[in-house]
Amino acid sequence: MNEAIGESRNVTFHSTNPQSGDSRKELLQGLQETQKNLDPKWFYDEQGSQLFDRITRLPEYYPTRTEIGILSDNREAISRICEPGCVFIEPGSGSCEKVRLLLESLRPSAYVPVDISEEFLRDSAMQLGQEYPWLDIHAVCADFNQGWSFLDRVPEGKRVIFYPGSTIGNLEPGAALTFLKRIREILGEEGGALIGVDLHKSSDRLNAAYNDASGLTAEFNLNVLGRINSELDAEFDETLFNHKAFYNKAQQRIEMHLVSRQAQSVKCNGSHIEFEEGETIHTENSYKYTVEGFAQLAAAAGLTLKQTWLDEEGLFSVHYLGLA
Ligand code: SAH
Ligand code: AVI
Repeated sequence: MNEAIGESRNVTFHSTNPQSGDSRKELLQGLQETQKNLDPKWFYDEQGSQLFDRITRLPEYYPTRTEIGILSDNREAISRICEPGCVFIEPGSGSCEKVRLLLESLRPSAYVPVDISEEFLRDSAMQLGQEYPWLDIHAVCADFNQGWSFLDRVPEGKRVIFYPGSTIGNLEPGAALTFLKRIREILGEEGGALIGVDLHKSSDRLNAAYNDASGLTAEFNLNVLGRINSELDAEFDETLFNHKAFYNKAQQRIEMHLVSRQAQSVKCNGSHIEFEEGETIHTENSYKYTVEGFAQLAAAAGLTLKQTWLDEEGLFSVHYLGLA
């Protein structure tokens, strides 16, 4: 952890500089593989975070509003099990909207939003700090798939990891297991995790959520090309790619791709990347779980679902996990 990036009375910021040279090397390597691919973390520059925020309000994008309903309807029970006075840590905190639903009943001793999108994190944490002057906020710009040594600087106390939004669905099952094992390690005996997980449902509903009529998800997907251009001194042309998202039933995941509209050779990092017409960059997976499937994954990481809340339609789930 180095470089403090600004603070106010109740808000501190630190950056671990997560977009280092190694991370850029990985981005380039992914684009050179047979199935070109990238880590969805690259979506989230300032523009990408703003676009995702707008996606959460789309009529087709049911996860956010459904999870907000679950958290609001059950805030008392959730706050009881998490326990007032806990240190509430949110990896991938985005706009810090959902924590607002719990703050008054939970009254954590500290809130630790962690996100890779630095400016967006800073603005969201500052705004939250102004609205809740009693809340001690320790914002950290970090990659939640790297080391969590930033927790050394966080106040002591019962740790609760708040991981809503089904952000866990953007991890490959192996990476999700690694993530849960890491959580298990940092929780100590007393800690817990409050995790939002999107559930299996009809392909139609899923396909609609990632192919909205207004084209916002397409814009979010295509925006990553601008990010590659700035990170790798590349010349991707957004107009030469199409958004594609579909439910892969066998793998139980939404896949997002960018499809090359023609054969092309794109300047990138002092060399060229070749595309055939129709060839894709695989930009994101969004895995969908059953409650049983998620419980099995948690068990493999040494964690147990202590309590589960669902919406009436069974679209989305929120789980409190503790040591097995
Ligand atoms: N928790 C919020 C936002 C979810 S969107 C909610 O539920 O509404 C996912 C968030 O995770 C984004 O803000 C994105 O910037 C962040 N993110 C994605 N990959 C990340 C990574 N590897 N490390 C840290 N943050 C990441
Ligand atoms: C952040 N994450 C859980 C979103 C999802 O649904 O997988 C990202 C997203 N991609 C397209 N639309 C939303």
